[in-house]
Amino acid sequence: MVMIALGSDHGGFEIKEAIKTYLSDKGIPFIDFGTDSLESVDYPVYARKVCDSITRGESELGILCCGTGIGMSMAANKHKGIRAAVLNEEFSAEATRRHNNANILCLGGRIIDGKKAVKLTEIFINTPFDGGRHTKRIGMFE
Ligand code: RB5
Repeated sequence: MVMIALGSDHGGFEIKEAIKTYLSDKGIPFIDFGTDSLESVDYPVYARKVCDSITRGESELGILCCGTGIGMSMAANKHKGIRAAVLNEEFSAEATRRHNNANILCLGGRIIDGKKAVKLTEIFINTPFDGGRHTKRIGMFE
């Protein structure tokens, strides 16, 4: 089964915890790289931990949560081999796996609640990459 790397700052802490509960209940393996509380921290630190877990082959997919998901996506996309997508709705969660082969989902704890975060996680981790013409397109920016 696919290993999921999780990370958040204080702004995304609560939705990360909701996602953890979902993954535990489903028996889906994950590694939680923190943060561990609502105390203010710097999101790039956690983006790096999750990206490194993916690039060294320890995890296949990652989920990064901050206040908006935007800072996490900016930080994560600086890492070679990382394709991080920030989104807030179901259509994009499926499309970014099928078309972009996104390997990190970025979510905003000040935008969506835990229930929505779990729904988007469920779609993201269960949707395959379509390959084909999309492989060439991804290669054009990597
Ligand atoms: C922290 O206040 C906030 O800037 C962070 O969670 C995130 O939204 C950045 O993009």
